[in-house]
Amino acid sequence: MLAKRIDKALNHQIELEAYSSQVYLAMASWAECEGYGGIANFMYIHSDEERQHMLKLIKFVNERGGKAVIPALKKPPVSYKSVKDVFDNLLKHEVHVTNEINSLVEICLKERDYTTHNFLQWYVSEQIEEEALARTIMDKIRLIGTDNAALYMFDRDIEQMNVISAAQDNAGA
Ligand code: FEO
Repeated sequence: MLAKRIDKALNHQIELEAYSSQVYLAMASWAECEGYGGIANFMYIHSDEERQHMLKLIKFVNERGGKAVIPALKKPPVSYKSVKDVFDNLLKHEVHVTNEINSLVEICLKERDYTTHNFLQWYVSEQIEEEALARTIMDKIRLIGTDNAALYMFDRDIEQMNVISAAQDNAGA
């Protein structure tokens, strides 16, 4: 049985993962409309992954005797100044998610809920990967600067990042 405080904190995380999915969906749509097909695909896949993060939490809460509540979501930002602006926001968002996961882990330790603590380790590892990927992308974007030809190549190459990440997921990495 989940303690009330843990139930509440996990439900808060469900909302954040659902919102993350919306944020990346909005980024995908922005990129698609701006002609960045590669970035759009990357964001569509990322949005699906966030939905999976949310579902995993919903199922865990309900299996442990808690009550997962499907939240209403606020509207995500819909326009961006540039590709750099998009990925700046993605990195900031992921850092925020990491902080929230860390707070959740701390609450579990305080409540001595080692089952939920163990469950959350998957999210801790996932955040390390997501932040690392976002930082790698930002490094590339800084190199590109205002070079449109390089941005065109980046839009093509970012699809490969998805392929690599999906292959790793399939291999259970
Ligand atoms: Fe589910 Fe990108 O954090």
